[in-house]
Amino acid sequence: LGTAAFAHAQGNWPTKPITLVVPFAAGGPTDVVARTLGAAMTKSLGQTVVVENKLGAGGTVAAAYVAKAQPDGYTFFIHHNGMATAPALYRKLSFDPLKDFEFVSQAVEVPMTFLARKDFPANNFQEMVTYIRANKEKINLANAGLGAVSQLCGMMFQRAVGVQLTEVPFQGTAPAMNALLGGQVDVLCDQTTQTVPQIKAGSVKLYGVTTKNRVKVLPNAPTLAEQGLKDFEVVVWHGIYAPKGTPKPVVDRMNAAVRAALKDPDVIKRMDDLGAEIVPDATNTPEALHAWLKSEIDKWGPVIKAGGKFAD
Ligand code: MLT
Repeated sequence: LGTAAFAHAQGNWPTKPITLVVPFAAGGPTDVVARTLGAAMTKSLGQTVVVENKLGAGGTVAAAYVAKAQPDGYTFFIHHNGMATAPALYRKLSFDPLKDFEFVSQAVEVPMTFLARKDFPANNFQEMVTYIRANKEKINLANAGLGAVSQLCGMMFQRAVGVQLTEVPFQGTAPAMNALLGGQVDVLCDQTTQTVPQIKAGSVKLYGVTTKNRVKVLPNAPTLAEQGLKDFEVVVWHGIYAPKGTPKPVVDRMNAAVRAALKDPDVIKRMDDLGAEIVPDATNTPEALHAWLKSEIDKWGPVIKAGGKFAD
């Protein structure tokens, strides 16, 4: 397109469906946030937001894909803390989280829950820790691969408790949860956006939440920190990105669409029901997301290096 035609095309944006890439399996925590926001954004943008699940390598396959996608305003990406942990976890990352993307907006923050299969032989946190220490060689810990928050939380749990369990990676915590429900794995640390319905249905055992304070939607669940894992805290945060070079007017309009979605009553209700907190409007700017990502890279790098698990 010539400059004038391109400017005109941007002025009309969006003229066709927009793809929102999710780096984990359909039905899981990231997918739930993406589809909830996507439905609301479809209303304000006048074009469908189509979720595309691109799986693999703890979210890094999708990030690499988006980093190289056409910056034409029709590919966006939702990702969580994995955007900040990947540089420390992967020796050969084909993208730079800070340099290869345009930053659209932050979105929601989500607590995690530490769970076991329903028939796990421990009825409270202390029993669970005692049982895990005594049976560590036969406990399977599910996660969504290196770069997933379930892996990060599981790693911190193992370090705090002083055990090394067998980690079973899936391509998202939706299949990990299915394995937990089916009794093929024993324990899983996963976001409330997927776990609240299972906890409320009594299909899994809950031993605590990973946030500093208790969570409104699970009022009876103590925090891991208050039960003895000193300073244990993992909060999941989701941000929205575009390939580097996506025109600024498009990024700004997408930012406005995300912010409008976060004020949509359907989104507010769904996120509230699932224990997710909407990030305050004032901090939902591209600049704030960039600064936040940078601070998270600085925060998690040393934690991951101490954890000693890396991939090529
Ligand atoms: C998912 O959407 O499957 C999760 O966010 C994966 C994870 O990071 O644990």
